[in-house]
Amino acid sequence: MRLILYLGKGGVGKTTTAAATAVRAAELGYRTLVVSTDVAHSLADALDTPLGPLPTELTDKLWGQEINVLDEVRQHWGQLRVYFSTLLRRRGVNEVAAEELAIIPGMEEVVSLLHIRRQARDGNFDVVVVDAAPTGETVRLLTMPETFQWYAARVMDWEPGTLKVARPLMKALVPGADVFETLERLTNGVEALRDTLTNPEVSSYRLVVNPERMVIKEAQRASTYLSLFGYPIDGVVLNRVLPMDKAEGEFMREMARIQQDYRKQIYDIFQPLPIWESPYYARDIHGLDDLSEIGNTIFKDVDPVDVQFHGKMQEIIPDGEEFVLRLPLPHVEIGKVSMTKRGDELFIEIGNFRRDMILPTTLAERPATKALFRNGLLEVRFGPPEEMEIYDNEAGVDGQAPDLT
Ligand SMILES: Nc1ncnc2c1ncn2[C@@H]1O[C@H](COP(=O)(O)OP(=O)(O)O)[C@@H](O)[C@H]1O
Ligand SMILES: [Mg+2]
Repeated sequence: MRLILYLGKGGVGKTTTAAATAVRAAELGYRTLVVSTDVAHSLADALDTPLGPLPTELTDKLWGQEINVLDEVRQHWGQLRVYFSTLLRRRGVNEVAAEELAIIPGMEEVVSLLHIRRQARDGNFDVVVVDAAPTGETVRLLTMPETFQWYAARVMDWEPGTLKVARPLMKALVPGADVFETLERLTNGVEALRDTLTNPEVSSYRLVVNPERMVIKEAQRASTYLSLFGYPIDGVVLNRVLPMDKAEGEFMREMARIQQDYRKQIYDIFQPLPIWESPYYARDIHGLDDLSEIGNTIFKDVDPVDVQFHGKMQEIIPDGEEFVLRLPLPHVEIGKVSMTKRGDELFIEIGNFRRDMILPTTLAERPATKALFRNGLLEVRFGPPEEMEIYDNEAGVDGQAPDLT
């Protein structure tokens, strides 16, 4: 099974590209599902067919679906929320605050991803193409399995102390339901989900861009954060390219010329990823025929289901007594890295985003002694094991983090 996710700024052509990829995959004989997780669904419009929360058959190889995440959360995980608010109230939090706090951060995002994964597994699809929400939300969504696990682990930790009180209470509140079992099921699901989403043989992330300044910036940011979280990117779709030979009149020629500059930039920025181009169509695009044409134009003789780029996103290299953790962060701006290590957790921050990594035991028992960010590569050095300490350091303006000892 393959999972292909399209990311990009709003309006760049994610829905169109996702649908075109799915149509192309179906033509090549793959059992294909294209699914939208954007609350502002537009997949049905692109496909010119009404879609619902269950896969709708479009051809003998193609299905489409628009997930309603809020319904999913309410239906399957409502009891967890009752449990958390009860627990919080028992710990002295007032009723209204308890209700609010009981909303697990990222619950909705996790649920929609779990749903996709289940669909891919049980629906017997060869490939699931995801038409995702605009980049910011999607990157947040993709970080959720980790954030959620962190949160859930801490809630589970409360259990020994509170179990005796909470379990009978929960039985009374939600008869027939075992919240702890539900929580465990969810945590296991999230762990498996994270495995699926970071497995480069299963999941591929593709960026959709236009030859425009702000669009490129956002795609760069997306690629940084995807790399940071270990999500494998395997290509870039450059959509809405004005054909130079058809650009007539001063205005159009100037537009096409500006686009060519940005087009060159895109090749510089995203190499060595493959870049597939799609022209600016001077007409409305909808329906399977249009999407088939676009799918063929974008991918030509490339099989869009295949993994198109293989590259290491994260490496741990032994170096004498020490270990080096290498994170290629291709488009991070210099001077914005900060790092904190607490026990087996390593917090890396770039701008407003952060990754809470759980380190493997080998690294967890070692102090992080040095962080060096150079040429798009973050190297964190771990010394020989000793007593654990807390580190908190900002990278210097020259992009070289100070010694963390
Ligand atoms: N290459 C293209 N040429 C012309 N119009 C396009 C092209 N790609 C997308 N569009 C149109 O632009 C609009 C936004 O595209 P859409 O795929 O919905 O973007 P997103 O999902 O990223 O918000 C749609 O009306 C779509 O038909
Ligand atoms: Mg869309």
